[in-house]
Amino acid sequence: MSGWNKNVLSNWFAVARSERLMGKPIAVTVLDRHIALVRFKTGNIAAFEDRCPHRQMPLSQGRLTSKGLTCSYHGWTFDSDGRCALVPGMSANECRPDVGIRTYEAKEIDGLIWIRLATNGMKAPPTMVDECHSEARRFLWQSVWHANIVDAIENFLDPLHTHLVHPGLVRNDSKRRRVEAVLSVTEEGFCVDYQGPKDQTGILYRLFESSRISEKAYFAGAGSAQIEYCYENGSEIRITLHFTPESVNRTHVFASLHVKKRFAPKWAVRLFVWPFLKKVARQDAHILKLQSENMSRFPNARNASSKLDFIRPYLEEIWRENEHIDFPGEAKRIELYL
Ligand code: FES
Ligand SMILES: [Fe+2]
Repeated sequence: MSGWNKNVLSNWFAVARSERLMGKPIAVTVLDRHIALVRFKTGNIAAFEDRCPHRQMPLSQGRLTSKGLTCSYHGWTFDSDGRCALVPGMSANECRPDVGIRTYEAKEIDGLIWIRLATNGMKAPPTMVDECHSEARRFLWQSVWHANIVDAIENFLDPLHTHLVHPGLVRNDSKRRRVEAVLSVTEEGFCVDYQGPKDQTGILYRLFESSRISEKAYFAGAGSAQIEYCYENGSEIRITLHFTPESVNRTHVFASLHVKKRFAPKWAVRLFVWPFLKKVARQDAHILKLQSENMSRFPNARNASSKLDFIRPYLEEIWRENEHIDFPGEAKRIELYL
């Protein structure tokens, strides 16, 4: 564990899709900490440090038995609280209940498993997670980006790259229009309200969308971001990305698409919208990898920014140890051409 701002440890991070965690433990890494996720026979889930206290085998290689999680080397078995419940070879009434594994808080919400590394901190993942699962249709996918978390979140929230990295798909460079971005602080992070034309110039808009009432980007907690489109016909689309750093230049992305009150049936969204969104995600992953590799060739380089890079300081404040900015009390307006 190195270099992480310890304040972020009190946040919840998405670490796996629920469907991956069934009969066998799985290994995940969050902020350089190695964790074994387990679903016990009762259905309860637990997150343990991925290390058997006996001789340091990865517990993610263990198996589930009626007594708990059994290490694959000598069979020491741990219950759902991480306490040693069985040492094979010892008589039945003896074991080492004084030995335990380190546990982390874990929750399962809307198809994702979340963990919190600090013993105290946020009670739950950001409210945007709860808000969007009810009546909306949901699509979920996961990917790994070779990028630092701050660069990865900035990429998702900053629209100024879309003309060049996703030419014609999201926006069109030759058809830029004036937009006013209104940045305000929320209880859990910040919101950017893009006030401008009701349509967008890319093919995604023309194929799948209709006249918009609003386009907003939200950021909450330490790694959750959402773009929300509301339409005149009462429908809504939300694209949510939960970013979880594995290490300083590897970031897991759990993405979901929630579609509410839109006419298109689920199969049509899967068949037509989905491939476009995946293409956009691949283009972002590609550009971020190039950026990250070049940063390691120039380790002392510093970023130059313009006033249009207004999201970056907020992310730096959260993720970098010595950064501090004063969040403005009132909304800030920035003019840009998108
Ligand atoms: S290393 Fe786990 S039981 Fe020995
Ligand atoms: Fe992008």
